[in-house]
Amino acid sequence: MGKYNELFNRIKDKARDVDRVILELVPEREPLELYKAARHYPLAGGKRIRPFVVLRATEAAGGNPEKALYPAASVEFIHNYSLVHDDIMDMDELRRGRPTVHKLWGVNMAILAGDLLFSKAFEAISRANVSPKKKARILDVLVRTSNLLCEGQALDIEFETRDEVTVEEYLRMISGKTGALFQGSAEIGAIIGTDNEEYIRALSRWGMNVGIAFQIWDDVLDLIADEEKLGKPVGSDIRKGKKTLIVSHFFSKASEEDKAEFMKIFGKYAGDAKGDALIHDDKVKEEVAKAIELLKEYGSIDYAAQYARNLVKEANEALKILPESEAREDLELLAEFLVEREF
Ligand code: IPE
Ligand code: IPE
Ligand code: MG
Ligand code: MG
Ligand code: MG
Repeated sequence: MGKYNELFNRIKDKARDVDRVILELVPEREPLELYKAARHYPLAGGKRIRPFVVLRATEAAGGNPEKALYPAASVEFIHNYSLVHDDIMDMDELRRGRPTVHKLWGVNMAILAGDLLFSKAFEAISRANVSPKKKARILDVLVRTSNLLCEGQALDIEFETRDEVTVEEYLRMISGKTGALFQGSAEIGAIIGTDNEEYIRALSRWGMNVGIAFQIWDDVLDLIADEEKLGKPVGSDIRKGKKTLIVSHFFSKASEEDKAEFMKIFGKYAGDAKGDALIHDDKVKEEVAKAIELLKEYGSIDYAAQYARNLVKEANEALKILPESEAREDLELLAEFLVEREF
């Protein structure tokens, strides 16, 4: 990971400015519990990748990143809202190394904290220092992005209880729940930075492909990561029966006997109110470990990892129509990191 050290420093640098905006828009105020709940994930950390994409896309397109600061905060707001609600839906207990919002404040307050963060995304855009014409266009992108994110999340939940999900269906689902916000981030950055439609299209496409690769890698990490490093539960997707590319590959290759073995645990706790408490149950742990063993045996995890890396290669290739710059290089390097990361 040494080759990424300077990139990490630049991400951290920009995150400081973005965080100032986030905490300015979500101060500690009455009703205190609502605002505390809304500040919980922003204060817990996170990689701050999406705002970095906005800022660097603006620069890569030839613009001034200072103009992109509020829009960068905006996409991080959308991301954090989606995490709060996602953790309720997935019934996960850990996020960014801390208990999830609904664990600490209850589901009702968590729904509201998510709603508040969603609303703040639009407040951030309304404060952005860009022309009215660009602002309207940015708003359009953010609305499209949020719509797609909800649609993708709905499919994700729907697929939990479906027996078979095709690769096309899976790709459509993740292009909504995750690809759209990466796409939106790159596109918004580009819109701020340039009027060149070709550049805007190129960055938008890059964002979608990188976002899809990012989610495939997230699915890989759910199986093989170290929980402490990841800051969220490992094996959660197995217990919930999440239909990932990894699982699709396994189902297309495995023997009937191995499939039956896998099904002993896969999806056993979909929609189960006990949620992640099960993570500490020895029998469940053993079954999850066995399921992961099977996925490894059939090369399904490697298959997905390679798929993600190929997508990033293609995405970066297509970005070459932009003029060479440090910002463009950062985006390329970031994309490579996203499919190698351990957290
Ligand atoms: C997690 O996103 C949610 C997914 C779309 C998979 P990140 O991995 O970017 O989460 P943070 O912001 O670093 O916590
Ligand atoms: C993330 O999918 C999608 C969104 C948050 C929109 P996951 O459910 O896999 O994300 P993690 O793994 O909980 O972060
Ligand atoms: Mg989810
Ligand atoms: Mg989740
Ligand atoms: Mg995940």
